[in-house]
Amino acid sequence: MPLTTKLFLMKRLSCCFFFFSLITQVLAQNTAPDINEELWYKNCVIYSLEVGTFRDSNGDGTGDFEGLTGQLSYLDALGIDAIWLAPFQSSPKLDDGYDVANYYDVDPQYGSPGDFAEFMYQARKHNIRVIMDLVLNHTSDQHPWFKQARTDKNSRYRNWYVWSEERPQDWNKGMAFPGVQKETWTYDKKASAYYFHRFYKFQPDLNFENPDVRNEAQRILGFWLNQGVSGFRLDAVPFIIDLPKTGAEKPEHMYELISEFRRFVQWRQGDALILGEANVMPDENKEYFGENGDRMHTMFNFYANQYLFYGLATGEVEPFKKALTDTKKNPGTAQWAYFLRNHDEIDLGRLTEEQRNKVYQAFGPEENMQLYDRGIRRRLAPMLGNNRQRLEMAYSLVFSLPGTPVIRYGDELGMGDDLRLPERIAVRTPMQWTNEKNAGFTAAEKPFRPIISEGEFGYQKINAAAERQDPHSLLNWTANMIRIRKECPEIGLGDWQIVEVGVPEVLAIRYNYQGKSVMMVHNFSKEPKQIQIPAQANTDKEIFSLIKNNKLTAANGVFKVSLAGYGYNWFRVGSAIR
Ligand code: GLC
Repeated sequence: MPLTTKLFLMKRLSCCFFFFSLITQVLAQNTAPDINEELWYKNCVIYSLEVGTFRDSNGDGTGDFEGLTGQLSYLDALGIDAIWLAPFQSSPKLDDGYDVANYYDVDPQYGSPGDFAEFMYQARKHNIRVIMDLVLNHTSDQHPWFKQARTDKNSRYRNWYVWSEERPQDWNKGMAFPGVQKETWTYDKKASAYYFHRFYKFQPDLNFENPDVRNEAQRILGFWLNQGVSGFRLDAVPFIIDLPKTGAEKPEHMYELISEFRRFVQWRQGDALILGEANVMPDENKEYFGENGDRMHTMFNFYANQYLFYGLATGEVEPFKKALTDTKKNPGTAQWAYFLRNHDEIDLGRLTEEQRNKVYQAFGPEENMQLYDRGIRRRLAPMLGNNRQRLEMAYSLVFSLPGTPVIRYGDELGMGDDLRLPERIAVRTPMQWTNEKNAGFTAAEKPFRPIISEGEFGYQKINAAAERQDPHSLLNWTANMIRIRKECPEIGLGDWQIVEVGVPEVLAIRYNYQGKSVMMVHNFSKEPKQIQIPAQANTDKEIFSLIKNNKLTAANGVFKVSLAGYGYNWFRVGSAIR
């Protein structure tokens, strides 16, 4: 064989060998891209706020978009990734904006569409996404659609709502706000018929069986995606899709409608998110997430939240562990959102009466603290007796749960509530920025809603300016915790297990993702506890705390960890850094 041919063949061979070894290397390292890493909601910290209570820029007493825009740097520095913005469209505000009178505008009290556009632009510059609260289940009774529907039987909007000529037998069943709301079917003189409303009577339900309503819902979703939002916190999902005529208490549901929303939203904007409000039982979750994860991307884990509060109240963690396990299996890319408090009451409706009474006793003993025969209308700090260690433990826990953490404005400061205000407004008081008049919230003489101005939660003591300067403040603690959360992408992406550590008051969770592991331990008891975390054979030799400057070495197959009363710790396995 001539030398040139030999050389040519050798080159060919070595080339083949090179590619072969490359392929085997790639396969061996399993470096195939993980689609989950593309999904921004898997590891993102969401901050919920209302424009009206955040910051007033023009001195009229109500917060506005310009005020909020000015505080984006505060939110950026706190480390949050997304804002969940409460409803801000035109509304009579009888349910604080959850009674929408025009889906396509900005309530003039909060600013102009230009102010909104500027806010969106500046948020993007700060790398903060905006998730918009969208109320599709019902409109305000002041919405032009309802006005036409009730006055004219032949109006094209008549069939946009749910009517009955006769009073349905279950007219006083299935109320979302029992105790306050008296009925779900109300007679309307103008319409000479009863209309259905799952919530207050000024919130008539839209009829989603009507294709025109479904089309309009898509218009609304498309419109706001075009304005730059990254997704929607979809309000009251089980009620959008229910069929009231099949019974107000146990109605049938049109689950396919959620797939329709998802398909539409995703076609318009590939990475747009649907975060659903659906307080349902674990066996129904698959209907909301979809068998293949093709319905809602994420939902608040209301079910686990109730057992979380039961655990905080009693120190008994077992029911919470069970709730986490019962809600563990999620299809496809679906993921839970975890929270402590939100803008509503804590709903304890799924606990047994005995369990609920224990939570009431600990966190809402007075009647005025309870609401809708099932919940508590207080902020976290007053409920936990303003005990700093306990507050830290509770928030550290939320950041460590298997899902997306959602925090509530003012909780990073330890703000309180005002039980003199009606229903859920108690936990929606203006943000406390400084110790100046009206907490730096507004320059007006009188803010639109009272600011907490007395006692241990008054703005004179609890405000962002003071906490910014104090390295030991809850604000700085929260910012640090968010940083630690972000250094643990295993939480959003990995598999998790509850680790048995031999102490019933302690919850330990371990996450594994692509050969990396983290573990978090939380002590729900006020007493100090010693726990033993089993080391996983051969691999776990050392664990490194991400909170304290310490490292633990396994002895006899366990790590011995001491936890203070309400103590907590986060560990990385094998190394102090990822
Ligand atoms: C959801 C909201 C609540 C509102 C209700 C009616 O439950 O969280 O604040 O009142 O829907 O829109």
